[in-house]
Amino acid sequence: MASSDISAARRNFLRLLAATPLASAVGVPAVLEALQQAKPLAKKKAAAPAAALAPKDNLITAASEAVDVMDFEAVARKNLLPAHWAYMATGVDDDATIKANHEGFSRYQLRMRPLVDFSRLDMSIQLLGRKWSTPIVLCPVASQKGFHTEGEKGTAKAARAKGHLMCLSNQTSTSVEDVNAARGEPVWFQLYARPDFASTTQIVKRAEAAGCPVLVWTVDLLGGSNRETLRRGEGPLSVRAPFCKECHEGRVQPMAQGLASVGNLERGAGPTVFTWDYIKRLRDVTNMKLFVKGIQTGEDAELGVKAGLDGLWVSNHGGRAGESLRPTIDSLPEVAAAVSGKIPIICDSGVRHGTDIFKALALGATAVGVGRPQVWSLAAFGQEGVEAMLDILRRELMMTMRQAGATSIDKITRASLIDRLRIG
Ligand code: FNR
Ligand code: LAC
Repeated sequence: MASSDISAARRNFLRLLAATPLASAVGVPAVLEALQQAKPLAKKKAAAPAAALAPKDNLITAASEAVDVMDFEAVARKNLLPAHWAYMATGVDDDATIKANHEGFSRYQLRMRPLVDFSRLDMSIQLLGRKWSTPIVLCPVASQKGFHTEGEKGTAKAARAKGHLMCLSNQTSTSVEDVNAARGEPVWFQLYARPDFASTTQIVKRAEAAGCPVLVWTVDLLGGSNRETLRRGEGPLSVRAPFCKECHEGRVQPMAQGLASVGNLERGAGPTVFTWDYIKRLRDVTNMKLFVKGIQTGEDAELGVKAGLDGLWVSNHGGRAGESLRPTIDSLPEVAAAVSGKIPIICDSGVRHGTDIFKALALGATAVGVGRPQVWSLAAFGQEGVEAMLDILRRELMMTMRQAGATSIDKITRASLIDRLRIG
């Protein structure tokens, strides 16, 4: 790392520290010393995260200045501890699926038909019998207090203010009860099944008791994930700043408190075997509606419908599960064909513009999720940032719908798209 990069990182560190109670507890000299000892981020060959890791000039200074959701990214980069940034930015292997996810949307061009009356444009959707005023969903994103002191409550309040569906991560840094209070109604709850079913059942029952209507079981990390950028970014435990211990060591996450077993998530490496039969086990302990997140093929979509799921979530975890190199926008059509309208589909990964949302809806998604833009906007400006990010995406989607002559979400169809690979 060049010495100018080190000083920039040091400045960012200190700026962040100044705003945290940990600064007085730990002491700035100790932090500086730890920073000097910290292993620098190794140079990466992959283009996407490498570009994202470089601090930029001309940062926006208020949420209202953001022109697109990427404007929050550079501010988040400046505000976040390097290790927290690396956790957010990481993919797996060379991080190439992150890039593929976003670029995948450019496979499709839009067929514009502007001469329609769009004065009463309707962006609402029906999802499991409930009306939402927008198809844009806040994906489950872990550990949000690591990105901003408001954490999940900031996101929940933004979801409330703007009327968006929020799915809370199992790895939340705020309890589901507190998030529901901030949201003003129960959020959907995302589950990581634990090796012992007793603990899994405890979490599920807690989410249900908190009123969460839908359980979203994430399956794409069961095989593990090779997060190289994260490992390079956080460095070995021995050289991490002393104050890291304050948050990380001996910490029991809110949803793991009181569990029969509080060990690390083993995600498939434990005594439980996770197959489609697990759906029935979950059904037996909860009346919540059930989604599976991380579906990427037509075969699995068929099995999901057969297993009686209430919905599917097409996702490759934002390129941080397997290095498939296949964007989810390319997984979506085969899933939609297999589901054939029987159950709703949420799709995420790489969504950065309203046009991306439009394309996913045209290819069969009922609703569309955003992950990293949530972190960027939260880290940049807290709740206000998340609200502005959602405003941008809704505005962009509305504009695209007008241009394409689709006055409601159900009028966004495959006929609105040209597939450049198939020419039509
Ligand atoms: C995630 N994602 C995720 N998914 C999940 O099911 N449970 C979780 O706890 C998390 N945590 C998490 C943390 C961070 C920092 C990121 C970036 C992502 C995945 C998330 O729900 C979603 O699938 C992707 O983020 C979508 O891709 P984009 O929008 O980030 O490209
Ligand atoms: C992640 C997990 C928590 O992607 O889903 O980091």
